[in-house]
Amino acid sequence: MKFTASHILSIAQFERVDIEHIFQVADRMRPYANRQKLTRVLDGAILGNLFFEPSTRTRISFGSAFNLLGGEVRETTGLSNSALAKGESLQDTARVLSGYSDVIAMRHPENGSVAEFASASRVPVVNGGDGSNEHPTQALLDLYTIQSELKSQKRNIDGLRIAMIGDLRYGRTVHSLCRLLCLFNNVKAVLISPGELKMPDAIVEMMESAGHEVVISDQLEPNITDVDIVYSTRIQEERFQSQQEADLYRGRFRLNNQIYTKHCQPNTVIMHPLPRDSRVSANELDVDLDANPNLAIFRQADNGIVIRMALFALILDVADQVDAHARPVNWYTPGR
Ligand code: NCD
Repeated sequence: MKFTASHILSIAQFERVDIEHIFQVADRMRPYANRQKLTRVLDGAILGNLFFEPSTRTRISFGSAFNLLGGEVRETTGLSNSALAKGESLQDTARVLSGYSDVIAMRHPENGSVAEFASASRVPVVNGGDGSNEHPTQALLDLYTIQSELKSQKRNIDGLRIAMIGDLRYGRTVHSLCRLLCLFNNVKAVLISPGELKMPDAIVEMMESAGHEVVISDQLEPNITDVDIVYSTRIQEERFQSQQEADLYRGRFRLNNQIYTKHCQPNTVIMHPLPRDSRVSANELDVDLDANPNLAIFRQADNGIVIRMALFALILDVADQVDAHARPVNWYTPGR
């Protein structure tokens, strides 16, 4: 695909070469993310960071990625704090805010909302999550993490065996990740969820059409024995009619050290897009796994920075100028 000035709305727009390109640019962002040097390549550029739904790491990492390239960030958080609450259309908001920004990142609770917004935007728009539909930048950082975690085992994305666990019906991260895996070969995906929260048929069919093996189950333990990655997800309580309905599913699949040690291979990598629900009623990824070196969740979150830096650099066509605008870092940083 042509990255310059493109919206990033769905995994559907990528081919395999595009993913390899993004990952190569992300690798080159590492010294900047680690504060070994800084760059001012986006000096003067403005990111409009519009988060109409709760977010911690996605919003901050979009903003930090832009700052690390030397750009500035203006943001709005929450639907009730924006003019959308006064009845303004997404298109009008887009028409206005795209006059204030060079690129926009956006999250919104409705499926398709970010594409609708983008249709009226005069600057590129990056989807930070639209309802239960897609979360393409998360899938990119997830796959980048999978690749780097498996490198030491001499395994790659082709031939990957992955178990996805939890709310596969409303979880947009797993929807985008499955779409992304369709660009690779010979994947085995074990989809573990309560029957009511299973992966949408269209995505399962897409995986099967790509030649992948798909196993669907509502049982955790027997299905995590022979995989490279366990990817746990949160019950997306905000997508249910009521909390009582979400309560039916919370805590159904708990992974802790004892279950991991008993059922997983010794080097199975544990991932989660975060936030993990650590309330007693859920405790989907127990803190007793935190000392386990195979727990990749914080490395995964860190990778959000380099992936989002790479996307901004590509969209704004500065990927090859980043190093020309590099400078030393003056302050103390633990990364150096
Ligand atoms: C996810 C999301 O918002 O879809 N979080 C994230 O962006 N890392 C997953 C979730 O909220 O459960």
